[in-house]
Amino acid sequence: MKHLIDPTDLTKQELDEIISLAERIIADRGAWSEALKGRKLATLFYEPSTRTRLSFTAAMMELGGNVLGFSEPASSSVSKGESVEDTVRVVGCFADIIAMRHNLEGAPYVASRVSNVPIINAGDGSHSHPTQTLTDLLTITREIGHIDNITIGFCGDLRFGRTVHSLIKALTKYSGIRILLIAPDELRLPDYIKHDVLDKEGLDYREVHTIEEVVSELDVLYMTRVQRERFLDEDEFDRVKDSFVLDLAKLAGAKKDMAILHPLPRVNEILPEVDADPRAAYFRQVEYGKFVRMALIYCLLQWKDDPSHGMPEPEGVFVDATLRCGNTKCICNHEHVEPLFHRTPEGVVRCHYCDSKIR
Ligand code: CP
Repeated sequence: MKHLIDPTDLTKQELDEIISLAERIIADRGAWSEALKGRKLATLFYEPSTRTRLSFTAAMMELGGNVLGFSEPASSSVSKGESVEDTVRVVGCFADIIAMRHNLEGAPYVASRVSNVPIINAGDGSHSHPTQTLTDLLTITREIGHIDNITIGFCGDLRFGRTVHSLIKALTKYSGIRILLIAPDELRLPDYIKHDVLDKEGLDYREVHTIEEVVSELDVLYMTRVQRERFLDEDEFDRVKDSFVLDLAKLAGAKKDMAILHPLPRVNEILPEVDADPRAAYFRQVEYGKFVRMALIYCLLQWKDDPSHGMPEPEGVFVDATLRCGNTKCICNHEHVEPLFHRTPEGVVRCHYCDSKIR
């Protein structure tokens, strides 16, 4: 069965199918108002959300379906200690498809291993946020006209920003992509993304420290919030929290048709004066998120019993009870799950739930 846990779960053909269905829905919204009549989506949100949860809800409603779930785990049997696996087995009795956000990395993957309905990862810790990636790809398509051959600058918190990690993985499926990584040293992209994704796939990338030195090269500027909730040390957060603030002066050298994206919520990183600039695409991006989630829900339900739309075969996966994942935010350190690891083609052993390197 097809789940969406990581952007790499989708083939390029499946990605194209979802984006093109979203475009068809935008062109004729009324035609889809009963497409999933009688079907149910469960939204299981263990962590706060405005856009993702409400856009999933709006998406299912616009397809004629219904929505159930929780946005506050304290109001569910999670508060009594029910595991992710058991919660999903239970909810699968009530719903046709499940969208899950979790603070623990790997939780949606754990869910997918026992679920009888498709699981969509709506964000797991700092790890992955594949439906934001679909949103970003549709936004780039609508704003720029194409994804191939763009130069994109990722700016801000590239260390904890799961939307950045997910979009970079997805961009490896396109050609002619140039990536500029704009971050202070403390918030640089993790080495595992640089080595296992950018280097391995041969993407053209460069690390810089300021927006101004690269803004004229960009087709897309992807701004991000510094993720306070992921820092273990409050002093470190205070040192970097205002590292990059986009204002109109910094856009002086930018292309006239550049698109500014941000997964939102923003805090200080884009001044309100930028909102009226036609290049500010971040509120249009929110609405594209609803359309692409409509397309995703529809496709996953269509593909559910189609063997040609299975999950990719994981490579190098093994069980080893003598190894330990050092990531305190990994599901494997909180719930009883199989001690699962994988060895990359370069011989590095990683936790199979959160991708952390095993030392
Ligand atoms: N972009 C995003 O994931 O927003 P929420 O946290 O509000 O869902």
